Amino acid sequence: MKIITIEWRNNKIKLIDQTKLPHKLEYLYIDKLEDLWQAIKQLKVRGAPALGAAAALGMYLGIKDAKAKDFKLFTKELERVSRYIGSSRPTARNLFWGIERVRRVLKVNKNKSVPTLKRLILEEAHKVIASDMASCRKIAQYASNLIKDNDTVLTICNAGILATIDYGTALGVLYRAKEEGKRIKVFACETRPLLQGSRLTAWELKQRGIDVTVICDNMAATLMRQGKINKVITGADRIAANGDTANKIGTFNLAVLSKYHNIPFYIAAPVSTFDLNTQSGAGIPVEERGAREVRELLFKKIVAPKGIKVFNPAFDITPHNLISAIITDKGVIRQPSRKKIKKILG
Ligand code: MRU
Repeated sequence: MKIITIEWRNNKIKLIDQTKLPHKLEYLYIDKLEDLWQAIKQLKVRGAPALGAAAALGMYLGIKDAKAKDFKLFTKELERVSRYIGSSRPTARNLFWGIERVRRVLKVNKNKSVPTLKRLILEEAHKVIASDMASCRKIAQYASNLIKDNDTVLTICNAGILATIDYGTALGVLYRAKEEGKRIKVFACETRPLLQGSRLTAWELKQRGIDVTVICDNMAATLMRQGKINKVITGADRIAANGDTANKIGTFNLAVLSKYHNIPFYIAAPVSTFDLNTQSGAGIPVEERGAREVRELLFKKIVAPKGIKVFNPAFDITPHNLISAIITDKGVIRQPSRKKIKKILG
């Protein structure tokens, strides 16, 4: 079954409601910007590249019915929409990249008519989607000789089809390995608190016929010690100029454990995830989310005393010196450094 995470369909944004998985594959048809903002906030659509697409489509959704008659008023309206979408989630670089791509349309088409600008913005959103699809394939291609026959790979969160448009970054690498006939096995960390690993990664790997086993996040060390993991591969939400990488909370733990056990630790991400204006991980904004996500299991079952204090950062930062390589759509950056990143990103 071909799954498309997010697209423009019948004048609406059509997206998979990821909070319903793995129970139901249900689509939302969004025609109000406020509903898109909520969908992003509540992780109905999530994963850095999918958020880039959501942002770009959201820019069009937000201005398609704008009444502004001239360039200046239209620009003002688009800026308002940019700020609003940008306030939904702070960490994923791609969300801001999607917004920037659309803002640029106005910069290079000064004083065009409003209907023309609206058309160009929708075209740009489609280009963002096409570029993500191409990037995922490129990442998988560059990673091809890193994954060997009989490898067992550990991953966290979901950096697959559901986090992109249709292939994935970290999981795309595994899909390609399978397409090449390599026999691979995957361990998926469940990814507390919102269980993207057990709900989403396990679901999509199973759909694609990949041998997947779910583990609780605190089991990774034991598996590594038992020699059951050959490689760790994850996605990224934002990569600073020196290679420090923000990804789902728990990624840093895996990188430390990989170093200790001498297991290669890879990040797979398109160049749109890099933020060269942020010098190191210390400058990456890390989203803190609500207490209910930790106090309750998926908002259904209470698992902590009422009102107990909770700390719930959604991401952590893995320092570049723990990363064996970053696999991008422009090539593989081994032992990432500021210089190497600059060279490959141009
Ligand atoms: O909070 P989420 O589910 O949006 O977090 C997503 C991740 O951490 C992914 O690993 C990351 O966005 C890369 S997706 C290709």
